[in-house]
Formats: sequence, C-alpha cells, structure tokens
Amino acid sequence: MQSWKSQCLSWASESSPCLEFKIARKSTTIHPKLSLKMASKGVILWYSLRHMKRLLTGLQPSGALHIGNYLGALKPFVNLYQDYESFLMVVDYHALTTVRDPELLRRNIADVIKTYVAVGVDPVKATIFAQSQVQEHTELAWILECLVTVPFLELSHAYKDKIAKGLEANAGLFNYPMLMAADILLYDTDFVPVGEDQRQHLEYAREAAAKFNNAYGQTFKEPKEMIQKEIAVVPGVDGKKMSKSYGNTIPLFGSKDEIAKAVMSIVTDSSGEKPVHVWNIHKALRPEAELESLYAAHAGKYKALKEALVEDIDALVSPMRETYNALGDADVRQILKDGSDRARGYASSKMRDVRKKVGVTI
Ligand code: ADP
Ligand code: TRP
Repeated sequence: MQSWKSQCLSWASESSPCLEFKIARKSTTIHPKLSLKMASKGVILWYSLRHMKRLLTGLQPSGALHIGNYLGALKPFVNLYQDYESFLMVVDYHALTTVRDPELLRRNIADVIKTYVAVGVDPVKATIFAQSQVQEHTELAWILECLVTVPFLELSHAYKDKIAKGLEANAGLFNYPMLMAADILLYDTDFVPVGEDQRQHLEYAREAAAKFNNAYGQTFKEPKEMIQKEIAVVPGVDGKKMSKSYGNTIPLFGSKDEIAKAVMSIVTDSSGEKPVHVWNIHKALRPEAELESLYAAHAGKYKALKEALVEDIDALVSPMRETYNALGDADVRQILKDGSDRARGYASSKMRDVRKKVGVTI
C-alpha cells in the first residue's frame, strides 16, 4: 500500500490534469481516486513541487561504495535534497561499460539502493530509481549522440583516464557523457551535486542541451553542477583520489575491522610529525581546528592518529550501517518500483515533446 505522499507524488509527476484543473478554476472537482483530505494535501504538495528547483544525481553500481562517494556525493545530496524536488538514480547502464558479471551487477544495484536509504534519503521525499527502468534515458542518449561529434567526445577526461588505466575502449565508455546528459536533461534538472571529477560531464550536459535547443527550439534546461569546495576530492589510502578503480578505498559499509584494515594501510612517511595522508582524509570528517589539537597531542604517533580516524569513521557510519543491514531485497524492489514509476511519469512526457520536435512522430 502506497502512502498518501508517494501516491500524490506519482500523480504530481504525471501532472494530473484533474489537479491542474482544480487549481486553475478553484473547482471542487476532485480526482475520483482521491479522498478529500488526500486531495487537499495532494494539491499543496503538487503546487510546492511545481515551484521547487530540481536536484538530481546518480551513482554507478560498479563496486563497493567508499567514504569518498559518501562525502563527495551522498552527504551533500542528503543535506540538500528536502529543499528541492529530488531525484536519485542508480545508473546501471553506465555500469555496463565496465561490469560484465550479471550477478555482481544485480548485487551492486541493490547495494546502491540500500545505501541511498541508509545514508538518510527518504524514498517518499526523493524519487529513487534505476536508469535502466526508464527507457527514455537510452532513447534520448541516442538523439544527443547524433548531435555531437567524435572529436568533441574525445575530449572527455573520464574516457581518457579509463583508457589510460587499461579499461577496454568500448563504444559505451566513449558515449558515456551523452547518456549522462540524457539522465540529467530528461528531468529539467537545475542542480547536480557531484564531486570535482564530474565537472566536465556537466559541461557536456549543458553543451548537449544547447545543441538540441539550437537545432530544434528551446526544450532543455542547462543544468549546473554543485560541487562542495571543502571536500572536492577525498584522497585514498595512497594519497591519490579515493576511487573504486584505484583499489585505494575505505569502504563505506565495511565492518569496523575492514575500516581499520584500510586505515592502517594509509601510506605515511617518517619525515614529519603529521601524517599528511591521514590528516587529509580526517579533515573531510572533522573541522581542522579540532584536528589541530588532536594531531598536536599525538605528534609523531601515527598509529594513535590512525586509530582516532578509525573511531571517527566508525562513529559516522555505524548508525547508517544498521539501517543498511536491516533492508532486505523486497524493500529494495519496492523502492525501485515506486521510484521508477514516478520517474517514468516525468521522462515520458519530456520524450513525447522531444520525439515531436525531432520529427519521428507522424
Ligand atoms: P569511483 O571513482 O570510486 O569509481 P565514481 O566515479 O563512481 O567513483 O563517483 C561517484 C560519485 O562520488 C561522483 O559524484 C564522484 O564525484 C564522487 N566521488 C568519487 N570519488 C570521490 C572522492 N575521492 N572524493 C570526493 N568525491 C568522490
Ligand atoms: N558519471 C557519474 C559518476 O561516475 C554517474 C552519473 C551518471 C551521474 N549519470 C549521472 C551523476 C547523472 C549525476 C547525474 O559518478
């Protein structure tokens, strides 16, 4: 049974003509499916949604999430999402550019959904969904790909980095920015909270919107990235950017022992009093002023400082880990179904307009 809020949200997403009519005419007509109480709450919700800016982001289900993903992408989203009309995706088709094991992909998708809820996103207040369940994403990506050139896509840092790391240069990896542009543009997104490494992808999305608008008339909003300056990049245990693909991560929902194992492996040198890489991760968790006194009290004692970091990470993640562990597969399926149905409501109406504009609707 859906709550009244999620029911109203899904009607709002379809821009229910009955509700529009009610507002326009102050008519007493209500949707036959709504009770009077639900109708008034629904109208208020629908009205406020109409006037909220849209926030959207997504994570790839390509491996175990790490504290860099949390601090760089999830935490900023959680802090913001209730002030916006928010969308949170698991971008499973993007993950197909690198993941070839269906069982692993299935597990990773469930993992990302559980993570969204565990870090504090309420699936009634935000639309949590899977990219693959809203087919308009791949459809729009194709149309956008037809508007950009190969040399333009060749400029992608992410593509060049992945090739440099020895990943297969499949065409999906090459076209990745246009699928991401479609993810964003379909929902008339205003803001996209991401880490610094995604800045260029947002430039690609704006460029794709502008190219479409120039060719076919104003259709897409140009989205803006939202990058938190203080923790733009969380370093990994080797001091480079923490990343699944560098094998230098501290797991987000690992056990305390797993967190400790990763933290103890942080590379330190013996040249100074302050272990730079430990400090750089730590400062993403606690104000520097607090850390100064801790690091002064344990000057040169790298093990004690690493232990303090383990405690801080564990204190942060253990309540979230409990929620994560309490969620079962049935919960995940329900969240995905509700969210994907709602997202499809927006995406399908946008694509109707796009299809008409490009000339495939006859
Ligand atoms: P990874 O590099 O581990 O594969 P992704 O590229 O899937 O991570 O990134 C998912 C989201 O998390 C993006 O918004 C990205 O900017 C953010 N993110 C990833 N790694 C970090 C990091 N080390 N510091 C801050 N944000 C990060
Ligand atoms: N490229 C993003 C990453 O690797 C994932 C992504 C795909 C995304 N589509 C998106 C992020 C749309 C924000 C909005 O992290």
